[in-house]
Amino acid sequence: MASGFFITFEGGEGAGKSTQIERLARKMSAKKYDVFVTREPGGSPGAEAVRHVLLSGAAEPFGPKMEALLFAAARSDHVEQVIRPAVERGSIVLCDRFMDSSRVYQGVTGGLDPAFMDALEQVAINGMVPNLTLIFDIDPAEGLRRATARRGINDDPDRFEKETLSIHQRRREAYLAIAAAEPERCVVVDASADPNTVENVVTAAVFAALEARAPAPKRQAAPV
Ligand code: TYD
Repeated sequence: MASGFFITFEGGEGAGKSTQIERLARKMSAKKYDVFVTREPGGSPGAEAVRHVLLSGAAEPFGPKMEALLFAAARSDHVEQVIRPAVERGSIVLCDRFMDSSRVYQGVTGGLDPAFMDALEQVAINGMVPNLTLIFDIDPAEGLRRATARRGINDDPDRFEKETLSIHQRRREAYLAIAAAEPERCVVVDASADPNTVENVVTAAVFAALEARAPAPKRQAAPV
């Protein structure tokens, strides 16, 4: 079994995840790591087909439960078609959003029953828990300013970005609660710092986690 590694990047809008994923991927590739970058919703042909339905708001009228099920369907396809095979090949997978986005956006601010969300998560990820999750933390007012600047004032925000500041604030708190509850998996990154500082923090967290990972189990020597 090759020792792949699965890293997810989470946080509110405009936190700079994509920029940092690009920088990290470049840095790791230069060090000859086998890096594979992907994102959610999407990342596999089946999940990309569902992406537009979710982000355009086409599923919004049917309620948060419908949206949660669609995110889960997309995630299941992404895990089985792309993430698990890549990790099993020994790649370092960098994924822009994953299960914590559903916990926060559909579970907490969608108001769905935690037991339902847990069950759905287990079906969707089927054991593929990230080895490391970097939670990009930023004041949502600043994050939304950045997201608007990146998108351009003339383009509409997507289904989730368009929500009120107080909803984004609750998402920030929900992410911090996940980090506090699962400190062995999650590292909070201060995303308000300048991009080079954030890059250094991300690099340090990733290399520390890679060094700390359990060595791949050795094969039993064949009897002679
Ligand atoms: P996108 O523009 O792809 O990414 P980002 O905001 O990270 O730059 O938008 C993805 C949106 O979908 C974002 O608003 C978060 C939301 N989302 C959920 O609500 N639940 C999920 O499970 C995932 C993966 C994303």
